[in-house]
Amino acid sequence: MIPQHIKKQIIDQTNIVEVVGEVVSLAKKGSSYFGLCPFHDDKHPSMSVNNEKKMFNCFSCNTKGNVIFFFSKFHHLTEDQATIQLAKRLGIEISEQTSKEALQQERLFKTMKEASNFYHFYLNNSQEGLIAKQYLRERGIDDHLIETLQIGLASSERDYLYQALKGKNCSELDQVELGLIKLDDKSQAYDVFRQRIMFPVTNPSGQVAGFSGRIYQASDQAKYINSADNAIFHKGQILYHFYEALSEIRKQDKVMLLEGFMDVIACMKAGIGYGVATMGTALTKEHIQLLLGVTKNIVLCFDGDDAGIHAMKRSAGLLARFGILPKAVVLPNHLDPDEYAKKHGGDALCNYIRQHEKSVYDWLYDIAIQHTVFNDLESMEKLKKNVFEFLRFSKQNTIVEHFLKKLSTDLDVSVETLKQDFGTLSTYAPEIEAVEILPTIEKSFSTKPIEIKKRVFRAYDVVIRHMIESKKKFLAFNEKFENTFYIDNRLSIYFDFIKKMGIYFAENDEMDEEDFMMLATSLDTSSELKSYTAFAKRILTDTMVNVNDNTEFEQCLQAIEDCVHELSQANLYNKAMGSKNNEDIQKFETIRKRQVKIVSGED
Ligand code: UTP
Ligand code: MN
Repeated sequence: MIPQHIKKQIIDQTNIVEVVGEVVSLAKKGSSYFGLCPFHDDKHPSMSVNNEKKMFNCFSCNTKGNVIFFFSKFHHLTEDQATIQLAKRLGIEISEQTSKEALQQERLFKTMKEASNFYHFYLNNSQEGLIAKQYLRERGIDDHLIETLQIGLASSERDYLYQALKGKNCSELDQVELGLIKLDDKSQAYDVFRQRIMFPVTNPSGQVAGFSGRIYQASDQAKYINSADNAIFHKGQILYHFYEALSEIRKQDKVMLLEGFMDVIACMKAGIGYGVATMGTALTKEHIQLLLGVTKNIVLCFDGDDAGIHAMKRSAGLLARFGILPKAVVLPNHLDPDEYAKKHGGDALCNYIRQHEKSVYDWLYDIAIQHTVFNDLESMEKLKKNVFEFLRFSKQNTIVEHFLKKLSTDLDVSVETLKQDFGTLSTYAPEIEAVEILPTIEKSFSTKPIEIKKRVFRAYDVVIRHMIESKKKFLAFNEKFENTFYIDNRLSIYFDFIKKMGIYFAENDEMDEEDFMMLATSLDTSSELKSYTAFAKRILTDTMVNVNDNTEFEQCLQAIEDCVHELSQANLYNKAMGSKNNEDIQKFETIRKRQVKIVSGED
């Protein structure tokens, strides 16, 4: 069975007049074409065909329908066979596989819709719902908004959603794929989202594709958890409220990019309906392409704290690659839009945003200036570096020139001097040095450390994924491992990457996926057996991390540290049991000492 939406696509894209015209001679009359109906013994042209309506209609024998129906009836094919042939004419291949995948997608979306309905129902019809609604009210979200946004509630019970979906004939497998449930070690299903207020997240076509769940009572769990990426949900391509905001974005010819979706809601309430937000991840090229499909006028509204400023710089840099010069608004006192509205009211928020929108570079400059103590050389030097940092992103000469002039006035130094500095200053040049582990020792690894190594591989993947997004994290990594690096044959690929990243970050403050791929490609040589490009692809596509989540990054650093320790212990053990070669033992001892240094952090 070919899914309905594919059939609809074929019907929409096929010119029905052409298809019918191939077998019936047609004459134009008004906006329709007329010909002899092939489905009864027609003496006068009684069949009309209209491509705008995508229909044919015989007013004599009353046979009517779309192009698939015509084609199947005329050529004595099943509807699916007709669809496949018509698709071929459009250059679309509908194999059994694609139609299977499309059917699965349809099922997944249906399951998400059911889940969303259930959460919404549960919020409105349960004891727990009363408490959750109380919380929402305190945050200024009333029943009307709950309806509009279809906000819901995940119960605190183990498997309410699972039971509800089972009742709707949604398969367990689909629920697992969607990250709605997991199976415990006895293969019993349990809900992933529990005791959380649920915000459905739609894809650009308006279908519910994922959820974000917020805690509403004291808890030691993450404030928000989002659906994991899956067949229909890719955080890198989804912006919260994009579909809902579309008409307003078009009307205003403007979109505002916010950090959190509570901020989107606050803006919405304040009358700014063109706000969207990423799902707790950094802005991607796909996000930008999505926005540019509607408008080129992008306003960034990020928190005024360090993280917000960093995100603003990063986003401006990425947008510059698309030739976009975004505007920005930064709210005072590090407030986010939601907090600002709570404190000063929605009207004040709306006014502030409308009045303070200006070029993102003007904002970055002003913020840098605010932190400067003039007459203090060190502070002035810092201002210079800050300004250079965002100028490097922009890479647009006019912008560079403009701000160097401004800086020259503010610092009272000549533009020429600044230009020289701008040309030569590179911010930080970290160096990592490899600690080689002897091949003989590598060979003597016992079976037990395989598990440890798997863990360390995984931890390195996560750490690298984080470091692509943040130079700060790269520097933290560097500091933690004090320029030493544990390698064996299989870990050496990480070492090569991290070394390359160090060189890159010495020159740049931002890296994106494309840059990372380029680093990988530059590492690939035909003589090498390992493929860095394949490795990079794996990190980019298979390693899902929440780049805002520092604890994940810290935990992985810790895991690496622990694994290195365990590995060196295992090696020591193997060594003691194995090799009798004195030289080996000595070399190993030196390494072990350095490892211990890493683990204990002592000098
Ligand atoms: P914030 O911590 O700024 O949250 O995270 P917020 O928007 O102010 O939310 P409230 O007002 O406390 O409810 C910004 C965004 O980062 C993601 C979410 O998408 C959030 O909207 N995030 C945050 C997570 O994914 N997980 C978290 O634990 C925290
Ligand atoms: Mn907030």
